[in-house]
Amino acid sequence: MEAPTEPVPCKEGDHGKFEVSVRDGLARIGRLHTDSHILETPTLLPVVNPNILTVTPREMWDDFDIKGLITNSYVIWKHEKLKQHALEKGVHDLLDYPGFVMTDSGTFQQDAYGDVEVGPDEIVAFQRDIGVDVATMLDVFGRPDDSRERSEHSVIETVARAPGALAAAGDTLLNGPIQGGLELDLREWSAQLMGEHPFAIHPIGGIVPLMEKRRYRELLEVILACRGEIPIERPVHLFGCGHPMLFPVAVALGVDLFDSAAYALFARNGRILTPTRTVRLEGLTEWPFPSYHLHDVTPAQVREMDLNDQTRLLAKHNLEVTMNELSRCREAVREGTIWHLVEERAAADPSLQEAVEWLFDEGIHQAQGSLIGSSAPIRTGGVDWTEWLTRHPWAISGQMIAERWEVPTKNLNGEDMSPNDWKVVLIYGRPPPWRDSIGSLVKELLKRWPNVLPLVHTPLGIIPYALEDLNPFAHVEGPKSIWILDVEQDADELVPWLRTLTESDSEGFHPLIVDVRRPQTEVLEELAAELAPSVRVADTSIDHESPSGELIRDHLDWCATRAKLMTQCNIEAQVADDVLDGCSFVRNRRGRVKNICASDGEHILSSRLSDGGLSLTLEGARRLHARNRTSSITLRVFGESEDGAEENTEVVIEHGLPTVVVEEGAEEFVRKGRSVMHFSVVKSTGVMLPGLPCVITDESGEFLAHGIAKCTDWEAAAFQKGVAVKVKEGARIDASAAFTTASQPGDD
Ligand code: GUN
Repeated sequence: MEAPTEPVPCKEGDHGKFEVSVRDGLARIGRLHTDSHILETPTLLPVVNPNILTVTPREMWDDFDIKGLITNSYVIWKHEKLKQHALEKGVHDLLDYPGFVMTDSGTFQQDAYGDVEVGPDEIVAFQRDIGVDVATMLDVFGRPDDSRERSEHSVIETVARAPGALAAAGDTLLNGPIQGGLELDLREWSAQLMGEHPFAIHPIGGIVPLMEKRRYRELLEVILACRGEIPIERPVHLFGCGHPMLFPVAVALGVDLFDSAAYALFARNGRILTPTRTVRLEGLTEWPFPSYHLHDVTPAQVREMDLNDQTRLLAKHNLEVTMNELSRCREAVREGTIWHLVEERAAADPSLQEAVEWLFDEGIHQAQGSLIGSSAPIRTGGVDWTEWLTRHPWAISGQMIAERWEVPTKNLNGEDMSPNDWKVVLIYGRPPPWRDSIGSLVKELLKRWPNVLPLVHTPLGIIPYALEDLNPFAHVEGPKSIWILDVEQDADELVPWLRTLTESDSEGFHPLIVDVRRPQTEVLEELAAELAPSVRVADTSIDHESPSGELIRDHLDWCATRAKLMTQCNIEAQVADDVLDGCSFVRNRRGRVKNICASDGEHILSSRLSDGGLSLTLEGARRLHARNRTSSITLRVFGESEDGAEENTEVVIEHGLPTVVVEEGAEEFVRKGRSVMHFSVVKSTGVMLPGLPCVITDESGEFLAHGIAKCTDWEAAAFQKGVAVKVKEGARIDASAAFTTASQPGDD
């Protein structure tokens, strides 16, 4: 193993700031900056008992590359020798550990023994004096089965101690634990109240009994309630969570830090951790998992060992598994597969499976704004099919984006169309790329029946054919059966969806559902029989073929560009129609659109062939921004109540390219194409989604640049460190040219 590097202190002024570099929904790869260390998250801080060093902190640093640990300040305070050493030489010297040291406060002991011999402010001052990197206030432990009154007490008393604890901590960063037992409203209240104080980190406390009893669903409920109210720019710590099988789901719900003594406690009982379960040493013939630490011994040999040696060896293995699972989680966040990992881990444990099933069915919908609304709806690369794929938050956010689309206002011949004039044809049965597998059928349909509106059934939901190349819809990898899955059921849901989109409550919109796993002539014959009486046949005086099917090709490309403007840039249909009126297309040799030029010849948009996205040019962004008005429309959503009666709900949809307003000092940099840093964001307006376009203005509303959001609108001004928007192009003052950042693959 490479020698670990020395701790790196943060830049001046960054002490206590948390920065996110990569994210997938609420899951994030972050960095907590402190004067002495920069801690990368998500990570686990192994619990070190200074009296029983099963694996020494030095070994953790040198051999495991573990950058942070947690120890108990009350244990140090109680033992005179440890206390004097720590006060004289500091906690890092006491532990012989150069990394990040967090301390807990004695809350657990207070709960177990009824009281501690130290006052709440005194124990924080002690942690400050021994030089810890993050201290913990003495919170009041709330147990899951506490009465409401007791839970309320744990919240109120913890909050009451906060000002004294923060004063005692001085410049030392402080943990502000969230209590409230199983009362979710109290958890939210606790997070709100604690969030009003300048704590560095918010641990979720009082959950160890839930994990011991495998009450995972309640654990997830508590995490969701707390995460929803904890300030988004602060790290969240799950106190006492150390079983690797819980890491993926906790990370997916926005947990950044874990701590646990499980690696040592389990080892002492001859129990061995794997990413999915715990295995007993007793009775094992071979290791049922790979292990660096156990690869050259057999279970029988380990059983024969002196008990201390056995415990140390198993603890090292347990630590190895724990840290490896966190690496796996971080990599999954980078790859966009954290929810795949959640599903995989859930499949291995019935209690976790039940909890994750609840999460997919109800939990993520209860937390809609934060979980679904922070997930990047466009994915890069292929997506592996899984049983619960359609329930992953990013899949739901993708569908929400697709649902921003509105039916076109003109048909192939340029005739005005009202929503009810369209005849919807839902095509299913063929895999993407759909322009190859069903493109010629779609062209043939339009040629014969210009008021046919083609939709495509995908395993992730129904999309207009206009979005046929959009990821993730167009890039699901799975067995053939996924292309015919749930078609009838999805089609049933389509009718209210279309009626919603068009504000029409007529009886129209019963789609014709066509299975295209047959020769095209057969499909067309069937459609001819179905469409003939109701749908207008093409005007034969219009030559669609001249000179090479250009009219149809232009119409399809216009529909695609319009759909993408509406869905990815959140542009109103009316504005999209105006901006694209008289536009022209530049295509590559394979006939796919590269650039889109406005009627005056200005290049305003480009297609991203890799993921079906749309890139704005500087001029395109400027024009769309000029058309931005803070408009929101109220739509009636037609649906059915449980007893089958029609039920209409009103939803407000905000339109417009999201805008980030930066402070004066940032203007020069942003105009030069440099990223928008969080600290320079004054506010943001509109619905900002990671990975989608936005514009940047100064406080007077003047257009400065455009780029790709790295965060949501509620995160943009909340964080104080890191990149909020990756700028694509900045507008120079003299407007004669633009500064462009060297674009990198995957930038937008
Ligand atoms: N360790 C495990 N749970 C808790 C908790 O609720 N509070 C504190 N301070 N430490 C803990």
